[in-house]
Amino acid sequence: MWTEEQQLAIDKQNSNILVSASAGSGKTAVLVERVINKVLKYKIDIDKILVVTFTNAAAAELKERLMIAIYKALNENPKDNFLKRQLTYINRASITTIHSFCLEIIRSNFQELNIDPDFKICDETESSILKSKAILKVLEDEYIESNENLDKKNGLYNLLELFGGKDENLIECILNIYSYIQSFAFEFEWLKQAIEKYNLTECSDLCDTDFGMDIYNDVIEELKIIVIKAEQIVNKIRGYEDFIKYVEMLQEDISVIKLAILNSKNSWDKLYDSLNNISFLRAPAYKGDNLNLKALVSNFRTDVLKKGVEKCKKSVYQRSAQVFKDQAKAYKYISYIYDFIVKFDKIYKKLKNDNNYIDFNDIEHMALKLLVNKKDDRFI
Ligand SMILES: Nc1ncnc2c1ncn2[C@@H]1O[C@H](COP(=O)(O)OP(=O)(O)O)[C@@H](O)[C@H]1O
Ligand SMILES: [Mg+2]
Repeated sequence: MWTEEQQLAIDKQNSNILVSASAGSGKTAVLVERVINKVLKYKIDIDKILVVTFTNAAAAELKERLMIAIYKALNENPKDNFLKRQLTYINRASITTIHSFCLEIIRSNFQELNIDPDFKICDETESSILKSKAILKVLEDEYIESNENLDKKNGLYNLLELFGGKDENLIECILNIYSYIQSFAFEFEWLKQAIEKYNLTECSDLCDTDFGMDIYNDVIEELKIIVIKAEQIVNKIRGYEDFIKYVEMLQEDISVIKLAILNSKNSWDKLYDSLNNISFLRAPAYKGDNLNLKALVSNFRTDVLKKGVEKCKKSVYQRSAQVFKDQAKAYKYISYIYDFIVKFDKIYKKLKNDNNYIDFNDIEHMALKLLVNKKDDRFI
């Protein structure tokens, strides 16, 4: 018997589903049942269904389990011609690894990609040798160009300084970013977008940017939560004679925070000033014997109130002008890194092309290029 969740994963139609569960919990069994359902219930020929896995072993396991399921159904209905057909179709069914599926698409459309049909797939070792060659070439070109052009010189040498003056650190960083962005469909567009987030058009207040406004809203939210928590404590200790002074103190805390919120007025710099003007009264001595309640108030004031405000100060860490200045500097560096990666990609692609190689990332990207059209910023 299937569990309720398994049955749901088997039956759900017309939507993407994601099944995540621990090993041996029945994911493969569910997948096999889903496919078998499509065949038995909806009479879809098995070779019209695409099933992709990451490893050859998983693909073989799926094929075998599907075969067993079809045999079982045939046992129950030995005369069913549709089922008999499925047994022959399963051999040509697309139950394969993601890479062999992509390769199949590439092989049958190589003209469209402008590649040699005799391409070879280069393994990790070969591709890292080509990558090394490519990156050293870019670095060499950059050094030459920097020494001829003073502007460039500052760019490269300043950047290297960030990497402790060591080429190999810069190289490692470039290669890491390069391999990271490979998992995005349109990797350079993604990278460009990520970088442009640092390109804040200089405004007078950081709240004029999405980036600044997001932080501003989070901080105000945080302050409002502190107020709510303080009010809850006030409600708890009101009514106790020996806590009159504590109620007054907490009410003062609340008005300090409320005033900070009120004075911030959607301005980063005003929020910065308000936070830095916050100061709290010292707690008066407590002479009663309700020590639990006293501890509740003290803990609130250290752990929630004071720590909370310190956290907010860390978020709104500088005035707008200083943040703009730092971001502009960062943007200069990362734009330089971006250009570096684009140059590297060009040379690496050329080296692969000269050797008739394609690597594993190319397999995914080329297949995607064939399957997806980008039109007016939408993917079809
Ligand atoms: N609801 C269930 N009741 C009993 N056995 C189950 C159930 N779901 C799966 N199994 C069995 O558990 C074992 C492991 O399932 P499998 O699909 O290979 O797990 P996974 O792919 O998640 O590692 C298989 O023998 C499968 O038949
Ligand atoms: Mg499995």
